[in-house]
Amino acid sequence: MEGGKYLLHCFLLALLTTKAVSHLVQSNANANRKSYIVYMGDRLKDGTSTALLHSSMVQDVFGSESKTVLYSYKKSFNGFVVDLTEEEAQKMAGMKGVVSVFSNEKRKLHTTRSWDFMGFPQQVERATMESDVIIGILDTGIWPESLSFDDKGLGPPPSKWKGSCQFLPQDNFTCNNKIIGAKYYRSDGLFLPDDFESPRDSDGHGTHTASTAAGNLVDGASLYGFGSGTARGGVPSARIAVYKICWSDGCQDADILAGLDDAISDGVDIISISVGGGRTRDYFEDAIDIASFHAMKNGILTVSSAGNEGPGRSTISNFSPWSLSVAASTIDRKFSTKVQLGNKKIYEGVSINTFDLKNKTYPMIYGGDAPNTTTASSRSSRLCFPNSLDKKLVKGKIVLCDTIRANGIGALSAGAAGTVARDLDSIDYSNLFPLPASCFNFVDGRNIFQYVNSTSAPTATIFRSSEVNDSLAPYIISFSSRGPNPITPEIIKPDISAPGVHILAAWSSISPVSSIPGDNRFVTFNIISGTSMSCPHVSGAAAYVKSFHPTWSPAAIQSALMTTAAPMRSGINMEAEFAYGSGHLNPLKAANPGLVYDANETDYINFLCGQGYATRLIQLLSKDNSTCPKDTNGTVSELNYPSFGLSTSPLKPFSRTFKRTATNVGSPTAVYRANLSFPTGTLKIRVNPDVLSFTSVGQKLSFEVIVEGTMDKAMMSGALVWDDGEHKVRSPIVVFI
Ligand SMILES: *[C@@H]1O[C@H](CO)[C@@H](O)[C@H](O)[C@H]1NC(C)=O
Ligand SMILES: *[C@@H]1O[C@H](CO)[C@@H](O)[C@H](O)[C@H]1NC(C)=O
Ligand SMILES: *[C@@H]1O[C@H](CO)[C@@H](O)[C@H](O)[C@H]1NC(C)=O
Ligand SMILES: *[C@@H]1O[C@H](CO)[C@@H](O)[C@H](O)[C@H]1NC(C)=O
Ligand SMILES: *[C@@H]1O[C@H](CO)[C@@H](O)[C@H](O)[C@H]1NC(C)=O
Ligand SMILES: *[C@@H]1O[C@H](CO)[C@@H](O)[C@H](O)[C@H]1NC(C)=O
Ligand SMILES: *[C@@H]1O[C@H](CO)[C@@H](O)[C@H](O)[C@H]1NC(C)=O
Ligand SMILES: *[C@@H]1O[C@H](CO)[C@@H](O)[C@H](O)[C@H]1NC(C)=O
Ligand SMILES: *[C@@H]1O[C@H](CO)[C@@H](O)[C@H](O)[C@H]1NC(C)=O
Repeated sequence: MEGGKYLLHCFLLALLTTKAVSHLVQSNANANRKSYIVYMGDRLKDGTSTALLHSSMVQDVFGSESKTVLYSYKKSFNGFVVDLTEEEAQKMAGMKGVVSVFSNEKRKLHTTRSWDFMGFPQQVERATMESDVIIGILDTGIWPESLSFDDKGLGPPPSKWKGSCQFLPQDNFTCNNKIIGAKYYRSDGLFLPDDFESPRDSDGHGTHTASTAAGNLVDGASLYGFGSGTARGGVPSARIAVYKICWSDGCQDADILAGLDDAISDGVDIISISVGGGRTRDYFEDAIDIASFHAMKNGILTVSSAGNEGPGRSTISNFSPWSLSVAASTIDRKFSTKVQLGNKKIYEGVSINTFDLKNKTYPMIYGGDAPNTTTASSRSSRLCFPNSLDKKLVKGKIVLCDTIRANGIGALSAGAAGTVARDLDSIDYSNLFPLPASCFNFVDGRNIFQYVNSTSAPTATIFRSSEVNDSLAPYIISFSSRGPNPITPEIIKPDISAPGVHILAAWSSISPVSSIPGDNRFVTFNIISGTSMSCPHVSGAAAYVKSFHPTWSPAAIQSALMTTAAPMRSGINMEAEFAYGSGHLNPLKAANPGLVYDANETDYINFLCGQGYATRLIQLLSKDNSTCPKDTNGTVSELNYPSFGLSTSPLKPFSRTFKRTATNVGSPTAVYRANLSFPTGTLKIRVNPDVLSFTSVGQKLSFEVIVEGTMDKAMMSGALVWDDGEHKVRSPIVVFI
């Protein structure tokens, strides 16, 4: 949406964002130049000469005309940001040492119950190493005074930590032994009025994600009584390093790269980035894919959100095989908000309504009957967008609106007492509105409309929400972005699902509950939804695994999380694995997976060779003399990935062999037997060998999975489970056309 603008993977912010953007565009004086990222692969060994190299390259393109490098990346990878025209960008792309040149675009940001819901109670066994694990959070910054970031019980930062805290006396921002580092990145230097020019979070999103991953225990947390309990992150004694790369107008590629360049060299163990969106880009023209490749090379797993563009096919962002992408599922908490009409009928809608109208009834009006005739027609005012309603007609009334997308903003600014919103889209989660509100689907919405339209003096009241138990949970929420992977369909994405709906976590005290200006409710904990919220659950679980296995590679940790995930029901999620990947996160089991599918830089390079990346690019990425191997076809099916994806043509016979290698990380002697489950039909699947007998820890054994037949359906999925009686190492197998 909005032409490649990127935001956080969370909803509440989208509105705030739009207003700031035009401001930015206008302030760009140089009309035909825009900022580009020139990416040059791995870092040069001699870091000091990198900046000189960058300015001499810029000089080569511009000659005597002076032009500044806006930012140089040199710590973890090599590249720079510079303003270019399209022709200049093309010229730059042809220069020696350049991997890719892409425009600097904007991206979007895409409690307590959630950990217990996954079977991960407060009292789980914890490694003493937990306090040595550092999670790098790339987000909107942090609210350091939140009780979730209290450092009680924590010693000084681990000695490996090389990062720092941007100290700003005027903002009182300080780090402690919980938040051990904090920096902010804004390469264009444009700080908007809503933003703090510091790592401080004016939004709430970064505070929420950081506390979900690694927040300390806070008793008695709730949002006005909702979600009440002890708030905690997945690893309450792990450390947090903050990289503020998102602002009230979104997150720019240049800043994402700058934050990640630092995070990698600062020594974080896990990167958590709930950001994405924009157009689908090739792996090496995407800031997050590029940086997560270098993170992987440095032993750091990147966990990212799948996006909130679902449920359409291939809507996922962040899908490189060297990172873990996370879908959003529900927990057993949902909200019901009843509305009673003047005819005594009660309808049950959805929203998180913290307001109590104390059963008082208010006159009702339909938005379509209240246009501000100087600005809107009845056709547009029925949607209740800002400035479309007549204040005189709406003031003090409950206004009925024909979409939930206006988020109550127009109703609030017109002085309404409340809003009842109906929508054609089904609404499967609850949002916060800046005034009393409840949302209805088509059938109830039509009944409410008919009441309002057929009554001379319609009235209604909106009750405070009640929390109800959703017995169907977990299932993937409609907004969660779906696979398949748009660049490499045979790498199943998303990889895993985790709670991302109605999550209670810490919040910025300065940001209103609904994130909507004019809402005067300020809280320390808030309930929000998005894949942004599911991502830090997996980051916390990855840190938990790392605390027991500090030497494991990023791929091993990724494998442990994926192969221990609980299978989810396909009936309730038609897109099956393309909605939930390997299944529902199980942090406890992930710490003891039995076997892992490991992979290293060479394996990903071979995969890239198979994807048609030329040796020249491969050498820039690895900064050595790597060539594409001759003894492998570098096919996707040879990448040692913990799931199996196969895309084929309908009704055409095929045979495919997947090669995999399992590493024993359980007991020294273990005999694993293969258990294949696949729907009966036109496909035959076998495993060779179907028994793996290990005699030592770290031992690797290889096997093949062979799939043959013809496809007469759009998608079929099953699983391979290696079972030694103690561990069930599960990988989904998905065949699709
Ligand atoms: C910083 O602290 C001073 C003195 O306590 C206070 O007046 C000021 O509002 C604080 N600033 C912020 C941004 O919290
Ligand atoms: C408000 O209405 C509800 C349901 O109709 C009822 O249970 C409750 O007692 C009422 N509260 C007051 C204060 O009248
Ligand atoms: C109608 O909109 C105009 C322009 O925004 C505004 O000045 C005026 O106050 C509005 N009138 C009413 C009755 O809401
Ligand atoms: C609303 O009521 C009027 C008059 O009672 C009727 O003509 C009209 O069709 C109704 N609108 C809808 C959409 O049902
Ligand atoms: C919801 O119900 C299930 C059983 O149906 C129960 O196990 C679970 O604890 C309940 N959740 C809450 C939040 O009460
Ligand atoms: C990756 O692992 C393979 C063996 O599995 C090894 O031959 C290769 O050297 C490793 N590559 C790197 C970069 O460590
Ligand atoms: C790459 O190969 C060249 C010439 O064959 C050699 O001089 C250079 O040292 C090699 N570089 C690395 C990093 O191995
Ligand atoms: C590569 O592909 C060719 C043709 O598909 C096949 O004959 C050969 O065995 C493959 N090589 C390897 C190493 O898998
Ligand atoms: C194999 O998996 C199926 C389906 O998950 C299960 O019902 C069956 O009991 C398993 N068989 C063995 C021998 O574990």
